[in-house]
Amino acid sequence: MKKTVAIVLAAGKGTRMKSALPKVLHRVAGRPMLGHTIELLKELRVSKIIVVIGHEGGMVREAFTDKRITFVEQGRTLGTGHAVMRGVAGLKGFKGDVLILSGDVPLVKKETIRALYKVRGRAGGKAPLAFISTILRGPAGYGRVVRGTGNAVVRIVEHKDCTPLERTINEVNTGHYLVDAAFLLKNINKIKNRNAQGEYYLPDLAALAVAQGFRVKALTHIDSREVMGINNRVELAMANCLMRLRIVRGHMHSGVTMMDPGVTYIDGSVKVGRDTVISPSVHLEGSTVIGRNCVIEEGVKIIDSVIGNNTTIKSHTIIESSRVGNKVSVGPFARLRPGNRVGDEARIGNFVELKNSTVGVGTKAGHLTYLGDAVIGRGVNIGAGTITYNFDGMVRDGKRKHTTRIGDGVFIGSDSQLIAPVRIGKGAYVGAGTTVIRDVPPGALVTSRGDERVGKGWVKKAKLKK
Ligand code: UD1
Ligand code: CA
Repeated sequence: MKKTVAIVLAAGKGTRMKSALPKVLHRVAGRPMLGHTIELLKELRVSKIIVVIGHEGGMVREAFTDKRITFVEQGRTLGTGHAVMRGVAGLKGFKGDVLILSGDVPLVKKETIRALYKVRGRAGGKAPLAFISTILRGPAGYGRVVRGTGNAVVRIVEHKDCTPLERTINEVNTGHYLVDAAFLLKNINKIKNRNAQGEYYLPDLAALAVAQGFRVKALTHIDSREVMGINNRVELAMANCLMRLRIVRGHMHSGVTMMDPGVTYIDGSVKVGRDTVISPSVHLEGSTVIGRNCVIEEGVKIIDSVIGNNTTIKSHTIIESSRVGNKVSVGPFARLRPGNRVGDEARIGNFVELKNSTVGVGTKAGHLTYLGDAVIGRGVNIGAGTITYNFDGMVRDGKRKHTTRIGDGVFIGSDSQLIAPVRIGKGAYVGAGTTVIRDVPPGALVTSRGDERVGKGWVKKAKLKK
């Protein structure tokens, strides 16, 4: 591969998306479409990435902070040829190849682009231009590939400029081009806008090359879904579906069991260990890493979190920005808000909410509990209905969040409130229904129940009064 500069076209309006968001920022498998193109170009190790922006270009710039990207403003969007005229502005004297792609084609594989290099390479320097075409049953709207004697590409003609005969051609241009830089720089400004749309058409480069006695090579790709752009939300949903299947298929091939791959939603950035079993309607997002031999039950959502090995995440649990150890059980219906560390062999049961808390090895919080800003030791038992009050408007300052510290082996009876800052010493017992407001020494028992009073026959007497 010669040194390559990439130009990504991303200035178009994307009118058919009917959106305030620029088209290339709409997401496929959790990543903006343009992000997929950038990722592809990084994998191909191009030396420079130029992105041509226009409509709402500021939003696109903000979404991509990668230093390898150079943004170029197109100004008025006068067509793909015009976009490239702007894109090549800084390339004077560059000797290598220019790879021109669109920012709205997120499914293209690097193998396909490599094949484009090969196809052009086979022409042995006689073809300064190669592009990817595909065959469509309904080619309306696309540029058609006109071929002449010996099946050689003669030119590309846009749908609106086609003769009735040309409209019957079903080989279309997909908008991926590999061009020799010298040829491009010499010819890009020769493109005219005398056509049905009054635009500067980049595909006119094909006819220019042929007129100069060069050959133009087309890689006719069989899988049109991989190389076609996204123009509306129907195509966006299709692309998401295809990308999702591609990702889950990858995981299955590397040893992950998927109960129903069609309804399993995993971002491309997520890692899953061998022999883990994933149920339907699971969402794994962002930088999430799941260990080996885990069970992820239906309806679970895990975002930017790390899960150890042999851990079970039961149905309808949500975990965000947390670390969960090995042999842990979480859920069903548990919620881990950001900032938790759950130790090995811990049990977090149904309707338990954790936030910014550390849970020690083997600790159990089985049901209906809120643990926020808590540091909890090993082997602790937390009864149902326990609540840590990290801030209390009445007793404390009501603003700062305070920490609850629970030592190893502590037993907290059901329906207890721990009003932070408070510390429960090692091995202490908190009786059921206790409100703890002062530190409890190790090994102590603390209770704060009012005396129970029984009014015998009270109901009957009360009724008589009425
Ligand atoms: C273009 C091709 C057509 C091909 C089709 C494949 C032209 C003239 N035609 O069609 O042969 O079959 O792609 O999808 O190139 N863009 C800019 N600036 C502009 C215009 C477009 O940056 O002034 C960008 C768009 O954001 C998009 C890409 O170029 O990423 C293609 O533009 P689009 O309008 O979708 O191309 P078509 O004209 O439909
Ligand atoms: Ca298009």
